[in-house]
Amino acid sequence: MEPVVGDAGTGARGVNESSAVEGVSTDGMTPVSAADVIRAHALTKIFDAAGSRTVALEDADLAVRAGEFVSLIGPSGCGKTTLLRLVADLEAPTSGELEVTGRSAADARLARAYGYVFQSPVLYDWRTVQGNVMLPLEIMGFDRAERRRRAFDLLAMVGLGDFANRYPWQLSGGMQQRVSIARALAFDPKLLLMDEPFGALDEITREALNLELLRIWAATRKTILFVTHSISEAVFLSTRIVVMTARPGKIERVIDVDLPQPRGAETREYPRFFELEREVRESLRGTH
Ligand SMILES: Nc1ncnc2c1ncn2[C@@H]1O[C@H](COP(=O)(O)OP(=O)(O)O)[C@@H](O)[C@H]1O
Ligand SMILES: [Mg+2]
Repeated sequence: MEPVVGDAGTGARGVNESSAVEGVSTDGMTPVSAADVIRAHALTKIFDAAGSRTVALEDADLAVRAGEFVSLIGPSGCGKTTLLRLVADLEAPTSGELEVTGRSAADARLARAYGYVFQSPVLYDWRTVQGNVMLPLEIMGFDRAERRRRAFDLLAMVGLGDFANRYPWQLSGGMQQRVSIARALAFDPKLLLMDEPFGALDEITREALNLELLRIWAATRKTILFVTHSISEAVFLSTRIVVMTARPGKIERVIDVDLPQPRGAETREYPRFFELEREVRESLRGTH
């Protein structure tokens, strides 16, 4: 069975299975390669459909270390969702190499090594909030007490402890998205894949959820790969920003976000915040 929610022993910064193989450390430190949660090399995805050929992603190189918060930003159609879907093994690459939590993307999916949060929360209206979070655990045959305990803990973590017995349609859009984040964490995955999860929300709600997500990230030490259209959201959340270009979808540049942690509402007022926003904006110029 998977480690329980909140178990720090095998958390993102813990020693993982692959370090036994790659553990060549002589100074007592975990080798960096063992801590890579995503490793992509020359990753390419071409869609061939009815005579039209789209290079959705070309030659992408990316390594995401345990505990990082990496955002993908770029114009519509530049392959952000495609990259996420490759990592999730929802699409197969045309060529290139990909490792997720030290194994193939297919094995990572089977091991439930990631949780996936979509732009729309995709909740079942006839199930309570807690019922929605318990669903993946139910499918995997977890016993009732364990399901209820995990769902309750996760809902408390996303600030919805008092809403467990409500129905999704009784909640605001922001609250529904919190439910889908709780559900994505049901198996305590190392990696969270998030595809524009706050894109449909108003700016005030989005900023509140940005803060909330950083709190969850710090508390759970997850590794997050996050897609966004918003420059300020990318700068606020990320430890690194991957700027992508369209036609063909390529990684244009990777920007380190050296803003101090933990971040708060005041972070958005720092001069460095504005500088980084400008840097991302300038990188995006000419990517259309
Ligand atoms: N299943 C598919 N079949 C054909 N073309 C696709 C498919 N999925 C995505 N594409 C194309 O690949 C490109 C990248 O798409 P996508 O990854 O969704 O971009 P983004 O998420 O950055 O907006 C687009 O041109 C899109 O039309
Ligand atoms: Mg997309």
